[in-house]
Amino acid sequence: MSKLQQAQKYVEENRNKVNPEFRLKYHMMPEIGWMNDPNGFIYYKGEYHLFYQYYPYDSKWGTPYWGHAKSKDLIIWEHMPIALAPDMYYDVDGCFSGSAIEVDGKLYLMYTGHTNPDPDNPKNIRQVQNMAVSKDGVNFEKIKQNPVISERDLPYIALPQDFRDPMIFKHNDSYYAVIASRNIDGSGQLLLYKSNNLLNWNYVGVIIRSDNKLGKMWECPSLFKLNDMDVLILSVQHLDKNGDKYHNLFSSIYMLGKMDYESWKFICEVVDEIDYGFDFYAPQTLVDDRGRRIMIAWMQVWGRTIPTDCHGHNWAGAMTLPRELRVIDGKLYQIPVDEITKYRKNKISYKDIIVNDKIQLDGIEGQNVELEVEIDAQNANNFGIKVLKGEKEETVMHYDRREGKFIFDRSKSGEQIKNTEGKEDNEQIRKTTVSLKNNILSLRIFIDRCSVEVFIQNGERVMTSTVYPKSTSKSIEFFTDNKIIIKNLNKWDIELGGIK
Ligand code: FRU
Repeated sequence: MSKLQQAQKYVEENRNKVNPEFRLKYHMMPEIGWMNDPNGFIYYKGEYHLFYQYYPYDSKWGTPYWGHAKSKDLIIWEHMPIALAPDMYYDVDGCFSGSAIEVDGKLYLMYTGHTNPDPDNPKNIRQVQNMAVSKDGVNFEKIKQNPVISERDLPYIALPQDFRDPMIFKHNDSYYAVIASRNIDGSGQLLLYKSNNLLNWNYVGVIIRSDNKLGKMWECPSLFKLNDMDVLILSVQHLDKNGDKYHNLFSSIYMLGKMDYESWKFICEVVDEIDYGFDFYAPQTLVDDRGRRIMIAWMQVWGRTIPTDCHGHNWAGAMTLPRELRVIDGKLYQIPVDEITKYRKNKISYKDIIVNDKIQLDGIEGQNVELEVEIDAQNANNFGIKVLKGEKEETVMHYDRREGKFIFDRSKSGEQIKNTEGKEDNEQIRKTTVSLKNNILSLRIFIDRCSVEVFIQNGERVMTSTVYPKSTSKSIEFFTDNKIIIKNLNKWDIELGGIK
């Protein structure tokens, strides 16, 4: 039996051994085992396909396979057979992240093969680029010319140990791949390769580099055009904190600017963090038949404990809600895809509720819900909402007018999450600067058992975090230091009855 068949058999025989306690109801997650980055996110033959870094045998990272799921509406996902296993000499220590492209009706995956022959000597690590192809979108074959880009195709300024996560795209009549690389100075850069047939690739140049000014190694790049701007998305290791930005060990950032397709240089005008919460990394995007640019990310980051990685939960990791991207006034906005509204149930609404201190409203509670709320701040300086509230637990989101910041506090959310490496100081608070609009704060909050995603001021800022409360902690309370008016409040249950 092949490595791939063995893994698939393991999934089928063990998927009912997953502990249901923290399972999400409307987010994509693995049937069993570990998940990290989204890979090969593509709209192909009328369906959304999502691959992901997958290790079925444990709730910790292990030699990655590519898991696979597909969806008609980005919300209900159908698990597909595992797409790639680390079974060749060039990828035996992992089929690392990559992307997908459709050519002549076939689905091509371009991914990094990772080899680490001597774990005590990381200098011997090699990362090379490979292709796999499928006619049916289910079964993938690695091509015999692999690796298609390897150490000998690197410029001398690039280290062969860190060369990964190809993002493939077509421009004019050629194919290009933007690939994350580590410069000999130790920091990140993006290399560009060109091909006319997907098999032979030529090095074009460095499109942008960190020069040690923007974190260390860069990972998972994406380059695309949106609303007349060129957008570059990167996931960056060890980016220094800067005000409220980059407080996680690894940060996902966007740059807006101009991609010069003559000189192949990216000229950056704006840089910002994509999501100001605790758990958001390695996003990928696609364009669908409606022309929407949709992003999805791993709803975790490296370097922390994950409560489902213990007591036999047997799984770890989920994806964010898919979000439509727009560039408005020099900022990247994120809006949950509208398909989610099809799954709203049991609407409860309130209007013009005056709050002077705190209030809980009948029917406004739950662990798998969407809340839409518009608050008139009046003269309050500090007001907000507590969710997933129980006797001793609460997840607090509030606006501080003096600071002009929205604050997410998970210090009392439930099971402790700890750092396992690096710069973080176990702080359990994240902040982001955002203005009231005509004195109104408007929020859309998606709670799904162990995740909270809050879209602030129509997606101008987003904060995504995992939290692990008891199943009984489901109250919701509004609070303020001075009168506020809840102009509009809608709550829906979002329950799909289990992901297929
Ligand atoms: C990002 C990343 C990628 C790599 C993959 C390995 O989270 O480190 O750079 O391809 O994860 O699982």
